[in-house]
Amino acid sequence: MSEALLDIAGLRVTFAGGTAAVRGTAIAVNRGETHCLVGESGCGKSVSALAVMNLLARGASRSADRLRFAGEDLLSLSDTGMARLRGNRMAMIFQEPMTSLNPAYTVGSQMTEVHRRHKGSSRQVATDRAAEMLARVGITAPGMRLGQFPHQLSGGLRQRVMIAMALMCDPELLIADEPTTALDVTVQAQILRLLAGLQRDLGLAVLLITHDLGIVARVADRVSVMYAGEVVESARTNDLFARPQHPYTRGLLDCVPVPGKIRPGEPLGSIPGVVPRVRAGFQGCGFRDRCAFAMPECAAEVPRHAAGEAHDYLCRLAADWSGLRGAA
Ligand SMILES: Nc1ncnc2c1ncn2[C@@H]1O[C@H](COP(=O)(O)OP(=O)(O)OP(=O)(O)O)[C@@H](O)[C@H]1O
Ligand code: SF4
Ligand SMILES: [Mg+2]
Repeated sequence: MSEALLDIAGLRVTFAGGTAAVRGTAIAVNRGETHCLVGESGCGKSVSALAVMNLLARGASRSADRLRFAGEDLLSLSDTGMARLRGNRMAMIFQEPMTSLNPAYTVGSQMTEVHRRHKGSSRQVATDRAAEMLARVGITAPGMRLGQFPHQLSGGLRQRVMIAMALMCDPELLIADEPTTALDVTVQAQILRLLAGLQRDLGLAVLLITHDLGIVARVADRVSVMYAGEVVESARTNDLFARPQHPYTRGLLDCVPVPGKIRPGEPLGSIPGVVPRVRAGFQGCGFRDRCAFAMPECAAEVPRHAAGEAHDYLCRLAADWSGLRGAA
């Protein structure tokens, strides 16, 4: 199999206060594929993405066994080399659109700046490209929108502008961090359709961060489930929904209403407790305080098991796990 476009192994991020936000994460995103990263709030999704882009907060330390993009080693890349890739060959849509769009500048000046910096284009070429990209993401009267400020746009339009801006330089990889969380469901569906269409038409690889399994079911080719700074399960989407292995993945899926599986009035599942804030030096399974199957061995290093082709999970439970399912 050819090398993944984005190949992450053993990624670790620790903050100055001692929080081990990411603890050995591995994710591989293939060209032309949508890979969803899911998990509850605080499990390390955004920090993983920011670590890839080398945009972590001051005081954070990042290390990895492997961090490669298109065959290039990101760990040995200089700041200038990284700045050349960022926004150009790999682009990111941030979790908060209002914090990444500068309120003091028009949409047009922010979009053209990206293109002029990376492609060395003239003002006119960059403006034409910006108008083309706004039209491409379904914004009518793009010429007028280019002259507007972010606060003059609705939430849905702002999100489309963010996507258009990210695609200005025709990137190979788009990282989209919760791109629809702040939107109502109809706009959310439009943005997801738009992303799926762009991904197909442009052959983009997309790493889509979300906590919404409904979104995952609709758009993902592959899913990685994160918990307490680790990817605890990774599989093709159909396989993950059909044969979840990790108790946390099962818990997440039990929280989703599935027509036909849940009877009217029947309560949905929930996972008691919250994601722990893990400190550097923490050992063992991060889920053990919430897991119905926890055993003393779970406090020691946890093995990773294969559960079929391109499906693996991080848990003490192995072959005997399916026999325990009825007890969950
Ligand atoms: N700048 C920072 N300084 C210290 N700790 C941080 C910082 N940024 C994030 N963290 C911590 O790192 C952990 C992972 O945070 P992260 O933002 O990646 O979560 P997330 O999975 O993206 O959650 P959400 O779904 O809420 O966006 C959390 O415990 C968070 O408090
Ligand atoms: S390693 Fe242990 S505590 Fe963690 S999910 Fe598996 S059984 Fe539960
Ligand atoms: Mg986040």
